[in-house]
Amino acid sequence: MTTVLVTGAGGEIGHSLLEAFRHRGGYTVVAMDVRPLDGHVAAMADVVLQGDISDETFVRALEQYDIDEVYHLAALLSTSAEKNPELAHKVNVNGTMQLLMAARRIALRRDTVVKFLFPSTIAVYGIPTLAQKQSAGTVHEDQFLTPTTMYGVNKVYCEQLGGYMSDHFGQLTEDAGRKTIDFRAVRFPGLISATTVPSGGTSDYAPEMIHAAAKGVPYACFVRPDTQIPFMTMPDGVQALLQLAAAPAEALTRRVYNVGAFAPTAEEIAVRVRQSFPTAEITYAPHPKRQGIVDTWCANVDDSAARTDWGWSPAYSFERAFAEYLIPTIGKVYGGSE
Ligand code: SER
Repeated sequence: MTTVLVTGAGGEIGHSLLEAFRHRGGYTVVAMDVRPLDGHVAAMADVVLQGDISDETFVRALEQYDIDEVYHLAALLSTSAEKNPELAHKVNVNGTMQLLMAARRIALRRDTVVKFLFPSTIAVYGIPTLAQKQSAGTVHEDQFLTPTTMYGVNKVYCEQLGGYMSDHFGQLTEDAGRKTIDFRAVRFPGLISATTVPSGGTSDYAPEMIHAAAKGVPYACFVRPDTQIPFMTMPDGVQALLQLAAAPAEALTRRVYNVGAFAPTAEEIAVRVRQSFPTAEITYAPHPKRQGIVDTWCANVDDSAARTDWGWSPAYSFERAFAEYLIPTIGKVYGGSE
């Protein structure tokens, strides 16, 4: 059995990740969230804890578990973080540092190495102008790491922190060279789940548009029709995390990997949504600030390192995502016609 700690287990990724653990078997799941987990999620965990990742006492108490792998999902997303930057820093940065230290102490106690899986994001990119975004097209991991959001700043720093904890922690102390953390991160594009809706993100327009159509309610999209960023289905997102966790360390040439699947414009999403829901009412009411944020994110990602190093290959292209996952599943969620 592999014992995993999942923070933010009540969020969108948490729901699907716990389902994947349950489906695969062989995992003991310690799940935590700041809010009570809903019954469906709690039932998939072996231990359920409610607490705040930025509360040191709570995080210290996690050290009693013999954790092999941490999936640190707890975070404020980009829109929420802009509404409360100080809280975002506390949760996204201080929470991550505390959890890394807890993982380190678990590793020392058990004389082992704890794997630390971290969902990073396309929000780490900050392309200065729309013209540069358009001319850059597909970006690789080391380009444009100048985010304009608190969330992006938090995530790019925590990527660095994870690498430091893995490779250089306390290099002038007696413990120097003692390997305790194996940090691995995927930079997710916008994730689209058929069964849950996001809250507080700036890529939320795509899932919101799809879910609104399935529910039969009008949707005013908060970005322009030509807005382009990469997206991925939630099952592929979970697959990426699990595949990276399972990759042999020798195969990895970096700690942080882009992962991509498809990169439609908002209007291409709207057109495809209307194909399945012909009565969908989709209009555009761009929000200047949220538009400004998405305009700094890359149009697409170069994920060739993930493909080469650990065999990343998404199951769902844009069309397959709709035809084989989103539309059939969402129909069941809302009891609709599809
Ligand atoms: N979905 C995230 C957000 O919009 C991006 O990683 O904040």
